[in-house]
Amino acid sequence: MKVLVLGAGAREHALVWKFSLSTRISGLFAAPGNAGTQDLATNLPDVDPLNAEAVVAACKENGITHVFIGPEEPLTLGVADALTEAGIAAIGAHREAAQLEGSKAFSKAFMARNSIPTAGYAQFTCFDEASRYIKNRRKKIVLKKSGLAGGKGVLESDNTAEMLGFAEKVLKDDALVIEEFLEGFEATVFAVCDGKTYILLPPCADFKKAGANDTGPNTGGMGSVCPVPWLDAKIQQRIRTETVEPTFAALKKENLMYKGILYFGLMITKDGPKVLEYNVRFGDPETQALLPLISSDFGNLCDAVTSGALESFPLEVSGKASLGVVIAAEGYPADYERQIPVQFTGKFDEKDIHLFHASTLRDGAGTVLTNGGRCFTVVAEGKDIYEAAERAYAGVKNVGFKGAWYRPDIGKRFMAE
Ligand code: AMP
Ligand code: GLY
Repeated sequence: MKVLVLGAGAREHALVWKFSLSTRISGLFAAPGNAGTQDLATNLPDVDPLNAEAVVAACKENGITHVFIGPEEPLTLGVADALTEAGIAAIGAHREAAQLEGSKAFSKAFMARNSIPTAGYAQFTCFDEASRYIKNRRKKIVLKKSGLAGGKGVLESDNTAEMLGFAEKVLKDDALVIEEFLEGFEATVFAVCDGKTYILLPPCADFKKAGANDTGPNTGGMGSVCPVPWLDAKIQQRIRTETVEPTFAALKKENLMYKGILYFGLMITKDGPKVLEYNVRFGDPETQALLPLISSDFGNLCDAVTSGALESFPLEVSGKASLGVVIAAEGYPADYERQIPVQFTGKFDEKDIHLFHASTLRDGAGTVLTNGGRCFTVVAEGKDIYEAAERAYAGVKNVGFKGAWYRPDIGKRFMAE
């Protein structure tokens, strides 16, 4: 297999790393990639993942047989469709299915008509109606932009003026979804799909808020754990029967099956699991914690996805715990500086502690420069979440740049006091 990973984030670095360990790989590329993927693969920095024609051309030029599409935007733009048409195996949802992520209006309607447990909701395109709904609310609500927003299109607030401001801004160019606020804890479950069937990977959790103890604004995700200590076999079974199975039955019924990853963003409430959102890709930073725990050859897994052979795939998972801490630039999730030089003061033992770069570059002298808001994920494995956390935070101290910050409490939610 000659594999291309599309994207530049830490999720894509983790994917490239996992592919690099496969015995099946005869060529490995990343487009555009980052300073981390450069060490493991050939970066194609001039190939824009959003330009389907350019991606197909790069595949032909380099003899690429399989493309793993990391982020959501190429999926919503139909890059998987273009690859499939060109006879190149794509791991990623086709354009129609990508609406499950690209439009909350689409995914909420899909869940409602298929009786998939989710938060009650209403949808608005007119400010006056939304304003009336917000002012007359009796329960806590959450406001969401319907289209893609990089994890920043959700407002959880009790302040009417703030809600009206958010609604007005969203309604300028998009639909607004208003949901009932669900109480519980969140988990992410990934299904790997081959177009006919699926297998579930170990559950993960993401830490979305910028501040310790889940305070402050939402981010793309500041850390992750895998597996989730609170998800015992009984809850996992309920997740499967109450959310995953009905979703796949509905996807089949509506001809929306695809070859790729389906992300279930779940709230585990006292009434059982409910779907907060679907994404049609792996999560970031969940993937960085998850992939080190997959023992199966990743090339074989992806080959099973594209050839429709998942049903008999023997997925092997290590019994360890894994935890990832994101290191971000000063100012993130608001404005931040780029091109800040990074110093590495220690070594990362690739066996069970990993440094995944996000959007980093190298200058002429070879110095790594930041080039985004979330800059690195440090991931460690351990015998349990406590050991994984201790080792990940020790690793974080080996990465330094001006203004670097991270959440000090990743995983703590799941640890005994
Ligand atoms: P989403 O993009 O829909 O996953 O929302 C981003 C984050 O906002 C979620 O991960 C939750 O932390 C929070 N959130 C979204 N919808 C709800 C809801 N209905 N109830 C409570 N929290 C929510
Ligand atoms: N970590 C959340 C996401 O990838 O959407």
